[in-house]
Amino acid sequence: MDKEEDPRNGDDHVTATKKPKLTIFITESELRSEFSHHGAGVARINNGSFGCCPGSVLAAQRSWQLRFLQQPDHFYFSTLRPNLIRSRALIQTLINAHHIDEVSLVDNATTAAAIVLQQIGRRFAHHRNDTVIMFRCAFPAVKKSIQAYVTCAGASVVEVDLPFPVSSNAEIIAEFRKGLSTAKSDGRKVRLAIIDHITSMPSVVIPVRELVHICREEGVEQVFVDAAHAIGSVSIDVQQIGADFYVSNLYKWFFAPPSVAFLYCRKSNPSSSETHHPVVSHEYGNGLPVESSWIGTRDYTPQLVVPAIMEFVNRFEGGSEGIMRRNHEEVVRMGKMLAEAWGTSLGSPPEMCASMVMVGLPSKLHVLSDDDATRLRSHLRDKHGVEVPIFYRAPKNGEKSESEPRDDHGLITGYARISHQVYNRIEDYYKFKDAINRILLEETSLQGCF
Ligand SMILES: Cc1ncc(COP(=O)(O)O)c(C=O)c1O
Repeated sequence: MDKEEDPRNGDDHVTATKKPKLTIFITESELRSEFSHHGAGVARINNGSFGCCPGSVLAAQRSWQLRFLQQPDHFYFSTLRPNLIRSRALIQTLINAHHIDEVSLVDNATTAAAIVLQQIGRRFAHHRNDTVIMFRCAFPAVKKSIQAYVTCAGASVVEVDLPFPVSSNAEIIAEFRKGLSTAKSDGRKVRLAIIDHITSMPSVVIPVRELVHICREEGVEQVFVDAAHAIGSVSIDVQQIGADFYVSNLYKWFFAPPSVAFLYCRKSNPSSSETHHPVVSHEYGNGLPVESSWIGTRDYTPQLVVPAIMEFVNRFEGGSEGIMRRNHEEVVRMGKMLAEAWGTSLGSPPEMCASMVMVGLPSKLHVLSDDDATRLRSHLRDKHGVEVPIFYRAPKNGEKSESEPRDDHGLITGYARISHQVYNRIEDYYKFKDAINRILLEETSLQGCF
């Protein structure tokens, strides 16, 4: 049987459930109850790192786990596959993939990177002088995968600086074009571009469609979009974006339990048939979606709860799009409130943010290194009950340059990445504001205090 006709890859008659028309939306007390397992008294304004999972989705997961334990053989032979297909069909509709067998479910973005980079690494073995291009601020685990699979195979890497603070897409596009011409110099071929859809640190929404288009014009062989933060925080249309591979974690902004991601592989990419799961099991050679559906005995239930997630998001006005819009509006509002209170500024204009915003910290905090940033983050968690990642930005153009961000007392070198998800309340951000103000007031010697 032709692999593409294998029914285990899914077929077109499995369609996404239509959004029901609800007039009664989730109430405040129901919302609180969905997240009642969250630790009390902690301002969680870091949804971006580990996401969140509501109680109703956890209950659905538990019910799948029990179904497996009640009769594992039946679950394996009759239940697992059709329900994985159901989840994949829902994702296919959400991201506008052309065909369901372009959508695989995997554990996380790191696994997806291993899948994609292993395939590309094999190609580099025959073209040792060719190049990979990516942002310097690409996620560190993904950079390690490049090292493990691609540079080891002989590739050279060109890293593009992300302008930050940034004020327009044009600045990012110009830097990327510069990087591409370096990558293509001396007659080298650019075999791979890795483009983030939403960078992690500092966090900015990248003009991904435009960058993929540029890659196509410039003859880049394959484009992999690392969109770990995308689903549930920005609308996704993989056909419009036009990349060969696109991964997004469902556990970050789409309410899945840890841990599940989808990996989209464009069917018309000639290399897609050479793309395999690195964990080889019975289904090796049957296409990535089927290979990924069984990588040995384990818990597959995070992959089965997509219908339960759809039910959860459809309890909110506007469904998933409504959640995204409100998260964006609120995180921008809170970012501006904090920047105003501290006399600093945002790291990008609101339209370059989704549900996360970079807010400048007062220069008097003296965040002067990556270690300072880590120490401040721990101090906020341990002493003030605030979960928020901190970013250190080294001055780029010399401390005296006019173009460096500054407040009334000096250069802004520390930024907080704040998130907003449905469970957040305005008090979370006030708690953060007060914590920073208290640190500034109480700590006599600021340097090294946190
Ligand atoms: C941009 C980006 N890529 C990849 C990852 C890795 O995700 P995971 O830990 O789920 O593999 C992250 C995690 O935060 C990320 O922000």
